Amino acid sequence: MRAHPASATGPADPTRRPATEAVLLVGGKGTRLRPLTVHTPKPMVPAAGVPFLTHQLARARAAGVEHVVMATSYLAEVFEPYFGDGSALGLHLEYVTETEPLGTGGALRNVAHRLHSAPGEPVLVFNGDILTGLDIGALVATHRTSGADVSLHLTRVEDPRAFGLVPTDPDGRVTAFLEKPQTPEEIVTDQINAGAYVFTRALLDEIPSGRPVSVERETFPGLLAAGAHLHGMVDSTYWLDLGTPEAFVRGSADLVLGRAPSPAVPGRHGERLVLPGAVVADDAKLFGGTSVAAGAVIGSGALVEGSTVLPGARIAPDAVIRDSLIGANAHIGDRTVLVGAVVGDNAVVGPDNELLRGARVWCGAHLAPSSIRFSSDQ
Ligand code: GTP
Repeated sequence: MRAHPASATGPADPTRRPATEAVLLVGGKGTRLRPLTVHTPKPMVPAAGVPFLTHQLARARAAGVEHVVMATSYLAEVFEPYFGDGSALGLHLEYVTETEPLGTGGALRNVAHRLHSAPGEPVLVFNGDILTGLDIGALVATHRTSGADVSLHLTRVEDPRAFGLVPTDPDGRVTAFLEKPQTPEEIVTDQINAGAYVFTRALLDEIPSGRPVSVERETFPGLLAAGAHLHGMVDSTYWLDLGTPEAFVRGSADLVLGRAPSPAVPGRHGERLVLPGAVVADDAKLFGGTSVAAGAVIGSGALVEGSTVLPGARIAPDAVIRDSLIGANAHIGDRTVLVGAVVGDNAVVGPDNELLRGARVWCGAHLAPSSIRFSSDQ
């Protein structure tokens, strides 16, 4: 008889019991990622061949989550047609849409009535734009053993100025929340809020309803001031906030290369991921974690490194594409060079253009042949 996997560690250890419910915050406008988010909400932009959210859902499932409530707002209508009831992922998915964006905390309060957990049970909360190897089970176990009201995944970064700092005492108890510190005196730690939490369910019900609330700026500092126990777990495995085009492209490539863990990559890890229905010329070179979606075409002699090519995009012969994202049905002309660029859906970049780091071509824009270069054409 096969042993049930749970019997290996034994149900006797209650701290290892997984949290079975999670809320995914997926309603943000994704302004930093535009134009990728003009037609598609950030969590639905494909990374390594599938909407980014698929990776998060698959990781949550692998950690024992069974029921996920999606808190949607911006372009809310696209989630359910794709993920349905979640059964394809082994999950029960529900969707709650805000009539007005309620912010991260307001969104949590708005979905709390859909949770089944008892007031003292742990509920996971994930930002919908974080790619991480976080040990989700360990975060839940830490929450249970510390008896915290809220536990936060913290990661360390070299330059914390763009993030929310979360200093902790030697026992891991959070001592402050410092949003986007600028001066050296304000930078008291390199630990930042990594966008994954465990809430004791009752606290979600206590967030004010019917108005925007920021969990980072209002809920957490308010709980701390009121004497609640907030616990930080520093886990320094792979972590990337996919909020910017550069980070999104990096994250997708890391998934393809296997540097970022996900059970949902639709193929073997390696230099490239070419999905069924893509057409790649024999002498095109694809490497560095490049993914090519269904219906995309890569022409002869093209070189595509560390890039994401979305469905129906066409890369003409001898184009050079590095660290870039090519939107759905976009066309890139012959010999055009893109490095660190984003091309929106349905845009056309004519032949012999050269767009370097940070360039964003808007959805549907047309760049005539040889219109922009960063170097001489001779
Ligand atoms: P930027 O506009 O580029 O900052 O991106 P964003 O809108 O995603 O904001 P941010 O990265 O701060 O959001 C963190 C997480 O919360 C993301 O997963 C968002 O989808 C989500 N989020 C932000 N605001 C809301 C909201 O008003 N409602 C819901 N349901 N989710 C939100």
